[in-house]
Amino acid sequence: MDFSQRLSYGDYLRTDTLLSAHQPITQAHDEHLFITVHHVSELWLDLIIRELQAAMALLAAGVTDTPLKMLTRVVRAQEQLTDAWEVLKTMTPADYLEFRGAFGQASGFQSAGYRMVEVLLGNRNPTLLRPHEHRPDLHGPLLAALHAPSVYDLTLHLLAARGLNIPAEVLERDFTQPPTEHPAVLDAWLTVYRDPEQYWDLYELAEKLLDVEDNFRRWRFNHLTTVERTIGFKTGSGGTSGAGYLRRALSIVLFPELWQVRTSL
Ligand code: HEM
Repeated sequence: MDFSQRLSYGDYLRTDTLLSAHQPITQAHDEHLFITVHHVSELWLDLIIRELQAAMALLAAGVTDTPLKMLTRVVRAQEQLTDAWEVLKTMTPADYLEFRGAFGQASGFQSAGYRMVEVLLGNRNPTLLRPHEHRPDLHGPLLAALHAPSVYDLTLHLLAARGLNIPAEVLERDFTQPPTEHPAVLDAWLTVYRDPEQYWDLYELAEKLLDVEDNFRRWRFNHLTTVERTIGFKTGSGGTSGAGYLRRALSIVLFPELWQVRTSL
């Protein structure tokens, strides 16, 4: 029981440091909830980034088994992120208004962790990195990821390495732009989906990526619904139209051919 000379739970996890980040700026009871849900979300986003980056390094080396395990973890972490809305939804509009004015223009729109996840997954939009320009430590890695292949680009390189026809214009595309559907890529996925036994790991990888995008959509949708029930159609603290902006984001497609292949089968 004596931890004066030994590493304790709190020492190892730096719980003091972790909890010291929890600093409400008003007396409002629900600000605690608001901060906690954001902090927890940032921790899950950080884990997702680590798993995605590790999976991508292996995919780039032609390995598929370990990335599948890592992407499964991403999917599970996304479920935690999405479930967090259930806790936050216990906050009413009146509860939120008690502290809303205090944090000025701060918004999840400026979450570097969320942007990194989006960029790694292939949602490429250089404008969205601008809030981080004053922080080279955040902006540098985001910019590097913007210019590098996404997890889907790396998957398409893998398909090419397995002899499937992926045109050079796809493999060497401008990575700073979002992916656009390409008929040759759709054909390549059709080959995989028509013969899963022969391409089992690619087939599994495709379905895992679809799980990730499916969960991403669920998070976006739950965010939008939570926003609408909390602030209605007011503009966002980050300066966008609010619910309108978030609704438009629902139409973003990360892995276009993986959705389209179902239509063509
Ligand atoms: C009641 C709580 C919340 C409200 C009212 C709210 C509201 C909004 C609004 C209006 C936007 C659009 C940008 C803007 O103009 O500010 C936004 C963006 C965003 N929020 Fe929230 N939010 C809430 C909770 C959260 C939580 C818990 C997270 C977790 C990290 C989060 C993460 C984000 C992210 C990542 C964006 C950027 C989305 C994108 O650019 O596609 N928000 N939020």
